[in-house]
Amino acid sequence: MRTQVGIIGAGPAGLFLSHLLFREGIDCVVLEARSRAHIEGRVRAGVLEQGTVDLMRELGLDARLRRECMIDNALDIRFRDGLIHLDLPALSAGKCATIYGQQEVVKDLVAARLADGAPIAFEAEVAALDGIETAAPAIRYRVDGRDETLACDMIAGCDGFHGVSRGAFPPGALTTYDRIFPFGWLGILSESPPIREMTYINHAHGFALCSRRSPRVSRHYLQVAADEDPDRWSDARFWDELAVRLGAGAGELVTGRIFQKGVTPVRSFVAAPMRHGRLFLAGDAAHIVPPTGAKGLNLAIADVRVLARALVEFFRTGASARLDRYSDTCLKRVWKTVRYSTYMTRLLHRFDADSPFDRQLQLAELAYVAGSRTGQAMIAENYVGLPFEDE
Ligand code: FAD
Ligand code: PHB
Repeated sequence: MRTQVGIIGAGPAGLFLSHLLFREGIDCVVLEARSRAHIEGRVRAGVLEQGTVDLMRELGLDARLRRECMIDNALDIRFRDGLIHLDLPALSAGKCATIYGQQEVVKDLVAARLADGAPIAFEAEVAALDGIETAAPAIRYRVDGRDETLACDMIAGCDGFHGVSRGAFPPGALTTYDRIFPFGWLGILSESPPIREMTYINHAHGFALCSRRSPRVSRHYLQVAADEDPDRWSDARFWDELAVRLGAGAGELVTGRIFQKGVTPVRSFVAAPMRHGRLFLAGDAAHIVPPTGAKGLNLAIADVRVLARALVEFFRTGASARLDRYSDTCLKRVWKTVRYSTYMTRLLHRFDADSPFDRQLQLAELAYVAGSRTGQAMIAENYVGLPFEDE
């Protein structure tokens, strides 16, 4: 088989890239290791930046989103000394965030791609990449028990943090930057109406977050040990602990059956550069950010916007200037996002190694934000999404 762009992975990065290329008439094949049911059922992020929503509209993929999403016009932060209410449109020139589950985005993108007659090879696991330093790279993968090869002009490694693309860089070609935080997030979905605002909580027991997926489904998180076993958390234990951390806000909390539960690590990781020869990394394949900023999914999409534009220029004109800038352009946004996600993580979590001095600094930072429009605007403009580079 042969194509112009071989895309590894049908997560948000690979799927958006395939749509962006398809509308420009560029041929691409998506190879995905898992089944369609698996990727459509994987519960992950849920906060979409305005730019992500705008892109779905531009691509004609927003019909269900417009019907089912929830608009996030505010963000609350609770801490020992009170409540900080961030009015997002007032603090960010009219912008807001949108709540719509990542797996719903994935379902919409898969359905539209199949409707376009542009199939995705599911259960096609990529094993190796050949010739990435040549003009004729190839992807070796296994499907239905057979070994196959996809010859292409360019390869997009959109295969997430545990994929194979990053490992295809030759030794010494990548610099990696890594910070693993000493805790994880226990996330649940429950059959219960959410509380009024998206609420981040700094509590002496640890961080908590009250989010949502629909008027009848809540998404909540608790800071737990990095190696916590989710099965140790009965529904009652989860709700009791969330109520403790919500403090004065607990009166609003409605409990319900918990139907999904999992622990997510909290880490930052950046691999640079994001390109070697004809292989381009995008999304989690190149970088991970702590979930406290709600940015992982949005950052993956920001990468493929830049990549699609550069690939279109290359295939139309032969010019490679944008491809040559791809890594530098993306890494600017990546590092700003790492900065913001680290700031929010540091501001809101319990760090067991902190001294009493560190804890006072954390409370002082929260008090500063509570009293400063500038401090609040910094959080708001990042939360709704920074402007795109290289427009
Ligand atoms: P992925 O979504 O990981 O997609 C990569 C795809 O590549 C997968 O479908 C995978 O099956 C496929 N693949 C891997 N290896 C191969 C191979 N060898 N061959 C073929 N296909 C392959 N972000 C937030 O903002 N908020 C959150 O609450 C949040 N929670 C998260 C919870 C978890 C458990 C995880 C893992 C991530 C979470 N994130 C969250 C981050 C966010 O979901 C990711 O940033 C986003 O999924 C990145 O999209 P992606 O397309 O780059 O990678
Ligand atoms: C979510 O709704 O899943 C969510 C919201 C905010 C975050 C992370 C995850 O910071």
